[in-house]
Amino acid sequence: MIRLPGLIDPHVHLREPGATHKEDFDSGTASALAGGVTMVLAMPNTKPPVFDEETLRVALDAGRQKARCDYAQFIGAGPGNAAEAARLAPQTAGLKMYLDSTFGELRLDDMTLWMEHFAKWPGITPIVTHSESRSMAAALLMAQMYDKPIHIAHISLKEEILLIRAAREKGIKVTCEVCPHHLFLADGAIPLTSAGNCCEDGLPDGRSQVRPRLATPQDAQALWENLDAIDCFATDHAPHTLAEKDSPTPPPGFPGVETMLPLLYTAVKEGRLTLEQLLEKSVTNPRKIFKLPEQAETWVDFDETDTYEIHASELHSRCGWTPYENWKVTGRVRRVVLRGQEAYRDGNVLAAPGYGKNIREN
Ligand code: NCD
Ligand code: ZN
Repeated sequence: MIRLPGLIDPHVHLREPGATHKEDFDSGTASALAGGVTMVLAMPNTKPPVFDEETLRVALDAGRQKARCDYAQFIGAGPGNAAEAARLAPQTAGLKMYLDSTFGELRLDDMTLWMEHFAKWPGITPIVTHSESRSMAAALLMAQMYDKPIHIAHISLKEEILLIRAAREKGIKVTCEVCPHHLFLADGAIPLTSAGNCCEDGLPDGRSQVRPRLATPQDAQALWENLDAIDCFATDHAPHTLAEKDSPTPPPGFPGVETMLPLLYTAVKEGRLTLEQLLEKSVTNPRKIFKLPEQAETWVDFDETDTYEIHASELHSRCGWTPYENWKVTGRVRRVVLRGQEAYRDGNVLAAPGYGKNIREN
């Protein structure tokens, strides 16, 4: 057994308000604890989206009543809310800007709207962008023009990581995150690691849909090769029910907050990653980038020898499926202690709804 610090996941979708049949603050944070994650940053593409004082209050009320692990809530960049978002900044995890198509209604097409947000956001916490390929390049230009820190969510392409590396060398304040699925899966959800030997045929089309799309093995390889330039691991935990994923109009997104640590630890065992890198990218760096407090008396007892198969039936998300069904991984979360209290042990989440703290509230 080894003792790890509680992980921080800077990118989860808890679906509250508006889609609690997929997930809510309760089930999503239970799934986090079972995955050794003790702090999550929640995305604003809810229904309605979190983009002003009223909707932020609705999300934070839900968190106060239901969260089992610690959390903070992002505010979304919409048309016409730049001043209000900037005023609310201290109460949020950061500002999220959707510059490319994905699930939800927050996409900003007009670049003059991006400019307003970049000009007004206080910049103590970064502007997080969902920006792929060329829109990522445009977002980097804005970060430089307005001298604001930018955090690129879920990078997936070789050209993206190479551009981020070059931009950083030129002094642009850019950080980035990568999701396990862009490291371990190629287009069609074809496994790129022996942990997924069970499942070489990939997944049916609806289930394999995610944004950014799963890329080529060469893109994934470039992410592995440039791991030193990737600041954070983030799950982009994006639960949709199996019925929705198998419908004629499957929404994009994978659950992932509970499977990240075993998948990454399996990569440690395979020599693709060091444990130091794992902890730097899932604890130290997210804490620094998003100005998150340390969690006192918080740790994960992790059995680093247990080899087992992942099954959705044993996971805690409400969505009821995982893209890693039957994958064989090594490393199991046995016990989680959060701020001095036992929060999880051997399959049971013990922290009650409401135990989780909004870390932006004094
Ligand atoms: C996310 C969702 O379902 O909310 N889907 C996804 O494919 N990643 C939206 C997002 O993060 O882009
Ligand atoms: Zn997301």
